[in-house]
Amino acid sequence: MTLLLETRDVSKSYGTFSALEGVSMAVHQGELVSVVGPNGAGKTTLLNLLTGLLEPTSGEVLFMGKNIAGFGPVTLADQGLARAFQLIQIFPRLTVWETIAAAVVSRQKKRWVLFARLAADREIGARVREVAEIFGLARRLDTIAATLSQGEKKLLDVASAFALDPQVILLDEPTSGVSTADKHLIMKTLITAAERVRVKGIVLVEHDMDLVAAYSTRIIALSEGRVLADLPPGEFFSDRDLIETVIGKRRGH
Ligand SMILES: Nc1ncnc2c1ncn2[C@@H]1O[C@H](COP(=O)(O)OP(=O)(O)OP(=O)(O)O)[C@@H](O)[C@H]1O
Ligand SMILES: [Mg+2]
Repeated sequence: MTLLLETRDVSKSYGTFSALEGVSMAVHQGELVSVVGPNGAGKTTLLNLLTGLLEPTSGEVLFMGKNIAGFGPVTLADQGLARAFQLIQIFPRLTVWETIAAAVVSRQKKRWVLFARLAADREIGARVREVAEIFGLARRLDTIAATLSQGEKKLLDVASAFALDPQVILLDEPTSGVSTADKHLIMKTLITAAERVRVKGIVLVEHDMDLVAAYSTRIIALSEGRVLADLPPGEFFSDRDLIETVIGKRRGH
């Protein structure tokens, strides 16, 4: 199995507080790795380290065998590592077309000054329509992002990350704040999209255990900054104590 993304004995402290300690994990080609754990376990910190947004206090983060410390999101996207960044919240007034186009353009290394000419650029237009169609947003191209339904906003967010044409995609709770029916729609859509655009691996932070059970190929459980378990779903969900720790319940409650 080709190794895509890896941490080796990574620790991260914020001042004197240790948010992650000795975390070693890996994502291989074809995997959807879910990162789970109670609030404050270190999931977002791990994602920030995996995308080079944070540098580890000690240890290494490797993408395709390269140490990515200090790369920054733009360099990483160029190398094929993308993350949903909730662009809609950054650019609420852009239309769906413009939001996806911004990602397509950044991937093609064209400059923002060309944005006015985008409408005439058939290649970009075709790619935007293709991405929109995959994510069920084809009829929403002229809609202002801020006026979309919550589920559609999530799809647009994920679509923007896919428009970067990444090899590996990282998603921090892509389904938070939407209905159960929409959660499955979003997950199915993004898995179909991943197959179509040949994303090699997905890292997903997710609290909803139904989704984790349904879609993960492997589950990494964090608790108080340490890896508690790293298991396929079958083994993970047969361990009751583990599940209780992960969902933050105390025994007897
Ligand atoms: N910038 C920061 N400065 C200080 N402490 C931080 C900072 N960011 C996170 N922490 C602390 O580090 C720990 C891990 O935080 P993190 O956000 O990674 O957890 P999480 O697993 O993503 O939680 P949640 O499920 O609530 O999203 C928490 O105790 C948090 O308070
Ligand atoms: Mg978090």
